[in-house]
Amino acid sequence: MAKIIDGKKISQQIKDELKEKVAKLKEQGKTGALAVIQVGEDPASSVYVRNKKNACAYIGIESLAYELPEETTEDELLALIGELNAKEQVKGILVQLPLPQHICEDKVIRAISPRKDVDGFHPQSVGAMTIGEPGFLSCTPAGIVQLLKRSGAEIAGKHCVVIGRSNIVGKPMSLLMLREDATVTVTHSKTQDLASVCRQADILIVAMGKPQFIGKEYIKEGAVVIDVGIHRDENNKLCGDVKFAEAEPVASAITPVPGGVGPMTIAMLMSNCVQSIEEG
Ligand code: GUN
Repeated sequence: MAKIIDGKKISQQIKDELKEKVAKLKEQGKTGALAVIQVGEDPASSVYVRNKKNACAYIGIESLAYELPEETTEDELLALIGELNAKEQVKGILVQLPLPQHICEDKVIRAISPRKDVDGFHPQSVGAMTIGEPGFLSCTPAGIVQLLKRSGAEIAGKHCVVIGRSNIVGKPMSLLMLREDATVTVTHSKTQDLASVCRQADILIVAMGKPQFIGKEYIKEGAVVIDVGIHRDENNKLCGDVKFAEAEPVASAITPVPGGVGPMTIAMLMSNCVQSIEEG
């Protein structure tokens, strides 16, 4: 029987700590707002954006919502980011991804000032993380490190296998685990005999984007399993990349979907916003 790593509870603890910190910063006259930009009306994005606004309200920081129509041009979006970069009170800028096809995500990410890049997606933020310099950490990987630490999992010296090499999760995840002194293996769609590589993992982090793909043959007895995937199964129920019912008896600890990694991303976004307000 694995311990269930409760991301809802841990993210709530983090938000409560941040709420206290925000109140203290307010006493020192330090405040700030998060600007959240959504282009178009992708329903999943709308849910994420609403959750982000609610989290801001909970911890006591202002959020500014920019809901732009699907036809917004790249130039118009870049102009808005330019304005927000120049606004003193705006301490964080988040452009919800994915963007419509006609807008280049890369250009948009690079337009956000690294001082306000609370998603941690700007190449400067990624570079800083890579060499251990101060900067905003990518929220999902930073959230996973918090899940591991706060649930008592040891990281230093452990073999961590990451499945996936995306810029948003896999790559920054592997770098953060390296920073935490894990021995890290990064695997991807071209990896040969993925199951035998995964069976060497003390900590298995699955961010491959394939619904219920990882069964017990991928998991070493006693491993910690972190499932980053989020999908709808054939019954429209949320599920991850891991076959939870198969993995749970083999693992020593495991994150559920929903209620594992998901809530941590927003908690870490809030943490980055508070860090930005602190830094002024
Ligand atoms: N779309 C899905 N996840 C994210 C995220 O963490 N940040 C942004 N900006 N867009 C997303």
